[in-house]
Amino acid sequence: MGKKPVVVVNGKAREDALAYLAEHVEIRQWTEATKMPRETLKEWLREADGLWSVRPLDIDGDLVKDAPNLKVVAQPSVGYDNVKVDELTAAGIPFGNTPGVLNETVAELAFTLIASASRRIYENMNFVTDGQWPKQPTGCVVGKDLSRRTLGIIGMGGIGVSISRRARAFGMTVLYNNRHPRNDDNLYMTTYKSLDELLALSDVVCVMAPLTDETYHMCDAEFFKEMKSDALFVNVGRGKIVDTDALVDALNNGEIDYAALDVTDPEPFPADHPLLKTGKALIVPHIGSYTDRTRYEMCILTADNIIAGVNQKPLPACVNE
Ligand code: DGY
Repeated sequence: MGKKPVVVVNGKAREDALAYLAEHVEIRQWTEATKMPRETLKEWLREADGLWSVRPLDIDGDLVKDAPNLKVVAQPSVGYDNVKVDELTAAGIPFGNTPGVLNETVAELAFTLIASASRRIYENMNFVTDGQWPKQPTGCVVGKDLSRRTLGIIGMGGIGVSISRRARAFGMTVLYNNRHPRNDDNLYMTTYKSLDELLALSDVVCVMAPLTDETYHMCDAEFFKEMKSDALFVNVGRGKIVDTDALVDALNNGEIDYAALDVTDPEPFPADHPLLKTGKALIVPHIGSYTDRTRYEMCILTADNIIAGVNQKPLPACVNE
């Protein structure tokens, strides 16, 4: 029997998916608690056929330039802003991600943030845990309805559509902005708007766009000024789409009402950050896809991308084919 292809895993990954991958390849995994030094990774890649990328990891032409046998790089995420895909393409290396399998799960988290922030669940629960059960109606933090209000989604891919279906079920009007208007507005009862119109009309603005050169700091001081002053801002896309200082100012100046974030800049987010001191933010640590089933499916798809790549077959989910 021939030697199995070697796949480098540069950190911690799901053991069940690695066990599946190990049926097909030899795994060389970085198991130290510290982040794998880039130079060590480059050294390991000299002998490798594949790379399972564990974030945070910057992937570019320099990382793979001395890896003559490398046939595939794959990562369990739909977003790939950490990857210079054109440089991998130039090196002839396919890059695999995990679109689709996480759509419903990320939409559930987005909608959890929208509903929880609208009803101020976090602040109201604190009354209970602090033994300060409020006397209605003055003592609690009064929330906002979702029904008969308008959600504006920025970035209407598969996850955006899944969020829109939930919003419609809650009685919301759904607007969206996207690079191009979609052709299924009748099906999902959604309406395309320019960014300016969307910001002016929405009670909840939810960012679901990928991070690109165009979307970097798209949500800046001007953006927040264009939103309604009682609106909720939600980000489930990428932290760097938002100018965080501008968001802090917008909350402190009353230009918007509240923020709910799954993604932040930086990540991890410092506990003493001024955003947390506004008392107007609900923040969770980038858990959009983190349910057991979905993470399993993402990791199995990553393994399948790698198995296909090392065998020089088309990847099931390839970004640069
Ligand atoms: C992704 O897959 O890009 C998500 O951010 C994971 O939660």
